[in-house]
Amino acid sequence: MKKLVVLTGAGISAESGISTFRDHDGLWNNHRVEDVATPEAWERNPSLVNDFYNQRRKQLFEVEPNAGHHALVQLEAHFDVQIITQNVDDLHERAGSKNVLHLHGELKKIRSSVDPLLIYNCEGWELKMGDLCPKGSQLRPHIVWFGEAVPMIEPAIEIASQADILVVIGTSMAVYPAASLIHYVHRNIPKYYIDPKAFPIPGISNLHIIQEKAGVGVRKLMDELLT
Ligand code: OAD
Repeated sequence: MKKLVVLTGAGISAESGISTFRDHDGLWNNHRVEDVATPEAWERNPSLVNDFYNQRRKQLFEVEPNAGHHALVQLEAHFDVQIITQNVDDLHERAGSKNVLHLHGELKKIRSSVDPLLIYNCEGWELKMGDLCPKGSQLRPHIVWFGEAVPMIEPAIEIASQADILVVIGTSMAVYPAASLIHYVHRNIPKYYIDPKAFPIPGISNLHIIQEKAGVGVRKLMDELLT
């Protein structure tokens, strides 16, 4: 089976009702990154940061995977599919995708703020201030904040370098190192970019642009790959 590597961003979850970050109604238009998504913000005002992620986690219990997530599961009948997602939601897993690597963490997990290896499932949507890890420190959202290392980038690069086909869905390709993954696939393999705002990426050859929302776009991709 050919290895199909899929890099997803916030756009694939948009049709489930989760806001993207940089669109006009995106999260970063209503919240300052510096206030809610950096280690300094956590130092300064952990309650504010925690509340932001509690609200995101709460929303996750109210949404469902959409046609785009489901279509990627169907592709597993034909390809060895590996998803690398920038998303912190669990909609790929809930749709049934078998192989999902989270580059930027997972909303439904929490971790120690002194030992990044102490990671736990969050029971329900709310992490409370005062909830401590076994080492006595406040638990924090298991999210990669701006300015923090991205430990999963190494395995992601390894996966990307083995791709026979690359599919990029619903990402502005604005955040690194995630956006750099497209430079690690073999130069000549077919690459697809599904996003209403998809654009030619400088230096990337054999890139097929599908300017559609994920639901329709992944269907079109399937038609192309399977006929
Ligand atoms: P962005 O908000 O930067 O980009 C979202 C992309 O989704 C845009 O290119 C939109 O055109 C596209 N889009 C919107 N609706 C869509 C739909 N229905 N179907 C397909 N595409 C659609 O989000 P990301 O690129 O994912 O990191 O952002 C990357 C990272 O920046 C995030 O993981 C997050 C953020 O800061 C952290 O918080 C660590």
